[in-house]
Amino acid sequence: MALVAPSILSADFSNLGEEIKFLDREQVDYIHIDVMDGVYVPNLTFGPPVIRAIRDYTDIPFDVHLMIDRPERSVEDYIEAGADRITFHVDATTHVHRLVHRIKDAGVSAGISLNPHQSPDLIRYILNDLDLVLLMSVNPGFGGQSFIEETEEKARHLKRLLGDDNSCEIMVDGGINADTGRRMVDAGCESLVAGSYIFKSENPREAIDMLRSL
Ligand code: DX5
Ligand code: ZN
Repeated sequence: MALVAPSILSADFSNLGEEIKFLDREQVDYIHIDVMDGVYVPNLTFGPPVIRAIRDYTDIPFDVHLMIDRPERSVEDYIEAGADRITFHVDATTHVHRLVHRIKDAGVSAGISLNPHQSPDLIRYILNDLDLVLLMSVNPGFGGQSFIEETEEKARHLKRLLGDDNSCEIMVDGGINADTGRRMVDAGCESLVAGSYIFKSENPREAIDMLRSL
């Protein structure tokens, strides 16, 4: 059984409240919220006010994925807006260890995200401090891209680095569908982010159930 985190990047923004209510009814494991600043990635989405606005619609944990430059300038704003987990990119800030602990000290789970070219070895000496590692299986910035195959081997490598008794969760994000999701679960991923596979599906409910069953 995989944990499922629908990415609202592919949801209908003009109807966001209803989309969140749908995910609440489906009792998904996390709601994945992609924050993009137009600097770290070439796309712009939303920030704390939108997160605060949808917070009232559900108690499902908000899994906030910060694709922003210098996240240390604004993590507290995301925490106040209702984030339950905050993941930032390893190369978006200088003092990664410091920021991880600032997030955890605020009572929020902390994660680091790796882009397709980045090795888990880069975060080897902070793995024990992390609640999750988010492996990007596409280049961050857009939904609907194709899964990058090397991510499967990368997940196996990360799993080996973590060892058996580490509670750090491996999450994968980008191009996830029934096939790539199955392979990533086999490679050691506990949770699957999926945007277009769920929201562009004829039957989003079945798509969620399919991923959950993996
Ligand atoms: C991409 C985002 C993803 C995106 C995934 O930068 O981080 O969360 O929504 O979309 P799909 O599942 O369509 O690849
Ligand atoms: Zn994401």
